[in-house]
Amino acid sequence: MFLAHYGQGTPESPIIPIGKPILSPLNVDEFVPPEVDEIYVDDKLTLHVINKLHKDRTRAAQQEAVPLAEELPVAEKLYSEALEHAHEFMNDVRKGKDVNYHDAEPVVDGFIESVFRNESAAVTLFKLRRFDEYSYTHCINVGVLSIILGKFLGLDKDTLRLLGLSGLFHDVGKARIPEDILNKPASLTPREMEIIKTHPLESFKIISATDGPAKDILRGAVEHHERFDGTGYPRGLSGKDIGIFGRIISIVDVYDALTSKRCYKAAMPTSKALSLMYQWRDSTFAPNSIEHFIKCIGVYPVGSFVRLSTGEYAVVTDNNSSNASRPMVKILFDASLRRKASVEVDLLKDPSGLEIKECLNPAGYPVDLARLLLV
Ligand SMILES: [Fe+2]
Repeated sequence: MFLAHYGQGTPESPIIPIGKPILSPLNVDEFVPPEVDEIYVDDKLTLHVINKLHKDRTRAAQQEAVPLAEELPVAEKLYSEALEHAHEFMNDVRKGKDVNYHDAEPVVDGFIESVFRNESAAVTLFKLRRFDEYSYTHCINVGVLSIILGKFLGLDKDTLRLLGLSGLFHDVGKARIPEDILNKPASLTPREMEIIKTHPLESFKIISATDGPAKDILRGAVEHHERFDGTGYPRGLSGKDIGIFGRIISIVDVYDALTSKRCYKAAMPTSKALSLMYQWRDSTFAPNSIEHFIKCIGVYPVGSFVRLSTGEYAVVTDNNSSNASRPMVKILFDASLRRKASVEVDLLKDPSGLEIKECLNPAGYPVDLARLLLV
């Protein structure tokens, strides 16, 4: 490998010798100080892996060739199965029974395969959900979004399975918290807050009931409220002491919490949630991690309901990787919210300068986007 650019540091005050070949993993430790989070490698110079990379990318592209309309019903069925499963394990914990996370492996594997066929289908479900059962949908959303972000970061399928399970069970400890505290529509007292803060450790204990629990799953669950700057809980870990599962799950956990409707707050539009989370980069979240997440799901994730500069209403159908604010959209309604013949527009190529004015919460409109997306 040849180092091309710094993730941190500048060419004026180099930490790493740019352009110098790294011939073995041992050299990485030699050249890259432990405080450096990210380096850029010049793939063009890395001759012996180009073919492999090319093959992997071609294979990935082929695997994503399933159209959204075809994958959406499959992902929807998986979501219902997962929802049933979440009800089961949360209720088991409430009754004092043990849970075995291996039971959830088929559903997590199903999501991994779905995400590799067409990840927009799973992302779309978050936007279209009409469920009003946050405690259950949140487990699934965090599990699936973790898989999507983990895939974007290059994790292999075996690691994604552990990550998906860790995401699915990260909040299982909340089943041991009294519901009147969990759903309190007012601010919590310091005592109630202390009780809430026990849930990551409770999740850890519950997952530990499975024979030979995977360490990564446990660590992701117990670290999902730790923060990069050390302000999180339960242990106040900071920086690199927080494992990659904890870092990934913390991002998707906050994202799902902000964009979900709760008994004490409305759902926040995705673009607003992402811009808020972007302000917390380098404090709540590790450097570059929010940037990665935004690149991964787009500023307007597939399935977002938007109002265009013409006043018309549309749904986002695909992302343009070169410009996250100009995705592909399907126009469904005129400015008076009357249904019109669907027209698909690539906002990156549209000559009239059509653009997104606002990201809306579909729950506030009398539209069934799930059905219209398939038309
Ligand atoms: Fe949590």
